[in-house]
Amino acid sequence: MILKVARLGYPVLRMMAQPVAPERINTPEFQHLLDDMVDTMREYVGVGLAAPQVHLALRLAVLEVEHHPRYPEMPSVPLTFLINPEVTILERATVEDWEGCLSIPEMRGRVPRFKKLRVTGLGRHGEALDFIASDFHARVIQHETDHLNGEVYLDRMPDMRSLAHLAEWHRFTMAPHPERE
Ligand code: NI
Repeated sequence: MILKVARLGYPVLRMMAQPVAPERINTPEFQHLLDDMVDTMREYVGVGLAAPQVHLALRLAVLEVEHHPRYPEMPSVPLTFLINPEVTILERATVEDWEGCLSIPEMRGRVPRFKKLRVTGLGRHGEALDFIASDFHARVIQHETDHLNGEVYLDRMPDMRSLAHLAEWHRFTMAPHPERE
């Protein structure tokens, strides 16, 4: 089922999300929620979706990048469920690139993100997760885990002057190959 996506201004997007009780993960209703989040992310062509974006203050996000029309050059990221994720930055060097967000429709802005990080947490069925992500994969994880702390990419922009409406961004900014640092 496609869920309604909260847009900036809806209070849950600015709340600290609460951990998911591990015993809840394998309940049919929670598994159903995970399926709905995947359906919603795919329907709106996002690369990730955090629970606060579907009005739930829970530490939960899904991500997937596969031949993405918005990011055709980006390496694919398999469908991943992040429950109660913890992020450790491994490389504090940052890379700046464009981001958008389903909760801030039709906008793009330049956001620096740490290059490499380690993620621990729980997966779809409560199994332990522990992996290293870098570059675009690390960017998506930082964007989604920010949502769990009530933050959006606008809060991470050092210069708001790069903020652009999507239609103008396509006309004036977006090259066939996204500008990378
Ligand atoms: Ni977002």
